[in-house]
Amino acid sequence: MSATPARTLDRLGRPLGDLRISVTDRCNFRCVYCMPREVFGPDFEFLSRSELLSFEEIRRLARIFIGLGVDKIRLTGGEPLLRKEIGQLVEMLSSLDGLDDLTMTTNASLLARKAQALRAAGLQRITVSLDALDDNVFRRMSDVKVPVATVLAGIRGAAEAGLHPVKVNMVVKRGANEDQILPLAEYFRGSGHILRFIEFMDVGNSNGWRMADVVTAREIRDRIDERWSLEPLDPNYTGEVASRYRYRDGAGEIGIIASVTRPFCSTCTRARLTANGEFFTCLFSGRGHDLRGALREGASDAELADRIRSVWQGRVDRYSELRSEATVPLPKVEMSRIGG
Ligand code: GTP
Ligand code: 5AD
Ligand code: SF4
Ligand code: SF4
Repeated sequence: MSATPARTLDRLGRPLGDLRISVTDRCNFRCVYCMPREVFGPDFEFLSRSELLSFEEIRRLARIFIGLGVDKIRLTGGEPLLRKEIGQLVEMLSSLDGLDDLTMTTNASLLARKAQALRAAGLQRITVSLDALDDNVFRRMSDVKVPVATVLAGIRGAAEAGLHPVKVNMVVKRGANEDQILPLAEYFRGSGHILRFIEFMDVGNSNGWRMADVVTAREIRDRIDERWSLEPLDPNYTGEVASRYRYRDGAGEIGIIASVTRPFCSTCTRARLTANGEFFTCLFSGRGHDLRGALREGASDAELADRIRSVWQGRVDRYSELRSEATVPLPKVEMSRIGG
């Protein structure tokens, strides 16, 4: 292999740079904006074991993606910590040449006891989803009985294991948890962890999204700035999805992800792989490109690379820039399938 990493550009000139791998479509939470219980109930058919890519298959695809320019991998779900022996997968990926960043998005309900092993296996960073500090609001958002204290213990455990700072993602939905913006900001001020507020998005077709339920980035920023004065910071890297701010009093930084009101498609370098081996080029796609079939029919690395390259080279996705009343009802993959 040559030492210079390849660059694979799409039709809008965007390089393939990150790979987000969903390792399971199951989750032990039923967040209202992601897996509402009315849709993801007891009769919902999740992927079967044999449909899931094996760790070997995931590693092989990850290696091929790295050969095409990926240097950052995020493991997602569903809830990735539900996948058996996930630490083993982390270890298998962390030893891949050419990977600069290996991270995971989790609801942290199982993190406290797994953090040390994940770190030891080579996980470099972690992002935790947390939508409220108040137990009642948290329960309404996640629709399960797990207390907030469990998630907070997971965050502490991750930090103690060396996954510090932790990024904490709060999806803000109007009328549901907007009253938790300031309490969460207060809790994480001065902790070194980075709290990020996310505009509620119309991913999938199950969450009943309406523009009226979006608390905009501007509104979120103003509410926090009124209480603790903020100043903008430059992005850490080109294409960072969060706009960064620091508290002027030195209590650390926050991020705001304005995927609805300030889309960032023009710098989107993210490819997504579902747990059953479908390759998606946008969070809002209706259709993926099956890689598992070719993998299991004995395709060579070069053939798989050609297939991935040609999909990426044909990519024109920019859903969030085109979002309108007409696009909202279009068939789209569910977030629990494609990963956050
Ligand atoms: P870092 O590597 O830590 O900078 O992570 P990140 O900023 O890429 O963040 P993360 O993966 O935690 O994404 C946070 C949230 O931003 C996700 O849960 C989504 O809600 C949203 N998001 C991330 N990537 C995309 C994207 O490509 N398109 C859209 N519309 N939203 C995205
Ligand atoms: N809008 C915005 N973010 C969402 N996530 C899931 N569903 C949505 C949505 N509808 C994000 C959550 C979680 C990650 C897995 O995906 O922040 O952290
Ligand atoms: Fe599970 Fe995360 Fe979706 Fe909530 S947002 S249901 S924790 S996958
Ligand atoms: Fe990328 Fe699609 Fe999100 Fe735009 S909407 S940033 S193209 S994933």
